[in-house]
Amino acid sequence: MQRRQILGALAGAGLAGTAFDLLAQRTPDVIYVPTAFETVIAMLKLAEVTDKDIVYDLGCGDGRFVVTASQQFGARGVGVDIDPERIKEARELAKRTGADSKVRFIEGDLFETDISEATVVTLYLLTRLNLKLRPKLMKELKPGTRIVSHAFDMGDWKPEKTANVSGSTIYLWRIPARG
Ligand SMILES: C[S@@+](CC[C@H](N)C(=O)[O-])C[C@H]1O[C@@H](n2cnc3c(N)ncnc32)[C@H](O)[C@@H]1O
Repeated sequence: MQRRQILGALAGAGLAGTAFDLLAQRTPDVIYVPTAFETVIAMLKLAEVTDKDIVYDLGCGDGRFVVTASQQFGARGVGVDIDPERIKEARELAKRTGADSKVRFIEGDLFETDISEATVVTLYLLTRLNLKLRPKLMKELKPGTRIVSHAFDMGDWKPEKTANVSGSTIYLWRIPARG
């Protein structure tokens, strides 16, 4: 059965709300694979996160980057994920660890979320998605904002620093001054 027919059948059965929800859902651009905690810590250290920072994790999964940034570095954090299950897990993790007053989670598309208040952005996506995101990072983020990525680079934008953690490369870039 086609997606259109399923939606039509749901609407016909008086479940128009469910059909609308399904229509509104967008498929994630990359599947969920969590970053190991050791790597999370190494990336936050590479970005030199402090209690002055607002850390955005774009595609936040279970919220471990922003919860760790808050718990261990004193930062505030915002996680964005398109998958409602992940957002539910992230909010539970924040509540369980007592980080919920310093972090929040947005269910939505990372490409459509306002990220302008971030001072640090963490990524574990794909090089293709990093490249798609690059113009948004350059446009919305303030000069000096740090971006750290697990495993995936930014094409010809050379990183300021890299490191190896548990067999993966982690990368750091900084938004340049506007010329
Ligand atoms: C590889 S996981 C990384 C999770 C977390 N950042 C970590 O490193 O532990 C990628 C996450 O991005 C989310 N995602 C994929 N496409 C997205 C999009 N367009 N907008 C927001 N989140 C997205 C997925 O649901 C998944 O949770």
